[in-house]
Amino acid sequence: MTMTRRGLLNAMARLGGAGAAYEALVLFDFLKPPPAMAAGLALPNDAGKGRTVAILGAGVAGLCAAYELDRAGFDVVILEASRRIGGRSLTLRRGDVLKELHTPAQLCEFDEGQWLNVGPGRIPHHHVHVIDYCRQFGVALQPYVFTSRANRVHTGHVGNGRTWQMRQAVHDLQGHIAELLSKCVSTNGIDLPLTKTDIEKFQNLLANFGGLTKSAQAGATRYSYKNEFGRAGFERSHGVGNKPLVPLNPVALDDILRSDLWNDFIFRDGEIQWQASLMEPVGGMDHFVRAFGRQSLRRQTGTIDGLVRFGAKVTAISLGNDRVTIAYDDSGSARTLAADFCISTIPMPIFKGLKTNLSAAYMAAARNLPVEAAGKVGWQAERFWETRDQIYGGISWTTDTIRQIWYPSSGFLGRKGVLTGAYMYGKNAEVFNARPVEERLHIAREQGERLHEGFGKFVEHGVAIGWDRMEHFRFAWADETDPAFGGNAELLATPQGRFHQAGDQITFWSGWQEGAIISAWEAVKSIDRQVNPAVKRG
Ligand code: PHE
Repeated sequence: MTMTRRGLLNAMARLGGAGAAYEALVLFDFLKPPPAMAAGLALPNDAGKGRTVAILGAGVAGLCAAYELDRAGFDVVILEASRRIGGRSLTLRRGDVLKELHTPAQLCEFDEGQWLNVGPGRIPHHHVHVIDYCRQFGVALQPYVFTSRANRVHTGHVGNGRTWQMRQAVHDLQGHIAELLSKCVSTNGIDLPLTKTDIEKFQNLLANFGGLTKSAQAGATRYSYKNEFGRAGFERSHGVGNKPLVPLNPVALDDILRSDLWNDFIFRDGEIQWQASLMEPVGGMDHFVRAFGRQSLRRQTGTIDGLVRFGAKVTAISLGNDRVTIAYDDSGSARTLAADFCISTIPMPIFKGLKTNLSAAYMAAARNLPVEAAGKVGWQAERFWETRDQIYGGISWTTDTIRQIWYPSSGFLGRKGVLTGAYMYGKNAEVFNARPVEERLHIAREQGERLHEGFGKFVEHGVAIGWDRMEHFRFAWADETDPAFGGNAELLATPQGRFHQAGDQITFWSGWQEGAIISAWEAVKSIDRQVNPAVKRG
């Protein structure tokens, strides 16, 4: 009799109980932690021999699919509507021109050596596919600081507005919560699932958690929050001789409650995608897409970016039984391209308007996929945030329209640096992006002033990008938190004969390069299955 894995596990569970079954699962690698390296697609180099693939879009998904297909022996052509590779992965440097629809072109006037990621700007440590390609291609990564306790938070919901250091908002709130809980726990008659010794331990835990001050009162120990240890900052942070540090008075609990900062901003670094560590390519995010672009082709001379036909705007997709035909506009001339397979990465706001013979349900899914806008503003400035505010990286948050100010995570102590002076998404971004560039910059200056006095004087060479206003994109990403997302994405990710889609927009990593890559892999694997139905891989 052969023993199946399940049979063995059941037997182990009977013999040794759940614990033994768990140990067995661990042994079999079922419960291993997530892999630190992506497995690699590794298709044989003749898997696609003699087959052609048309890829629509030279962003992360399109370039990655092209790279993997080329290595697997397919012949690839990429149609790209714009004049550059990278898609939304866009880094601005001196001399670059940014052109939105219906707004005058903006020239980036940063100093030489300065740069701003107006698209993706950070890579979480668990985005193993992106990181693995960086490892393979030699793309140097540096830490991206998501949060510094010296960052600021501004609320417009208390009095005439308040600006605190992140450490005050976080640690004062934590202290107040600990004190309240400590009072509850020490109230007699409250039904707690804790023994008397547990309660003592719990009190100690709270004292540690909140930085509480212990005092003896009528024979009982009381815990209260006074910022005694200065977690929330100091009024006087140094002193020679017998001059102890003087902690700041705590911000009152009701001010913190009314601030609304807890509604999102101060807890963001608890969300998995913002947990340390995050990384970014040294010198700009576009080094990642450029690394795909410069990879050598396997069977011909040339590189992946040499497969791209620029300025090729797709107008129609016609799916046949043995080929897919793409109609596109090449600077006013109508052209067609026929291939055995097609992978479209065209942003849904544009794709949904194409003429296709795909099913009505499929095109309806394209129309119904929930999508979002995003906007950013960039500034160059002398590093006042370092010299005046002790800020080295991280993000300040505000309830104002600009929402965020990012500080550079590198180049510390240099003279100048580039700030992200606004970053917002959703409805807020749509409204903001609809304003003329000058107005957006004006608002970003004024609101920056509430986080840093004198902000408006320090910043120069502002640029603003509204992703929903960018001709070849018309959105920032899909909104996977909308309940309508999953069903539509599911259909869009389902191969329609020889037609496939890839791109972050059809994944639950929408707005992430990791989503672009995993979806590209799925499309490539699916084409391989269609070409080699009898072959079982890995
Ligand atoms: N990945 C993008 C970012 O880093 C967009 C995004 C924002 C995705 C918020 C999820 C949540 O900002």
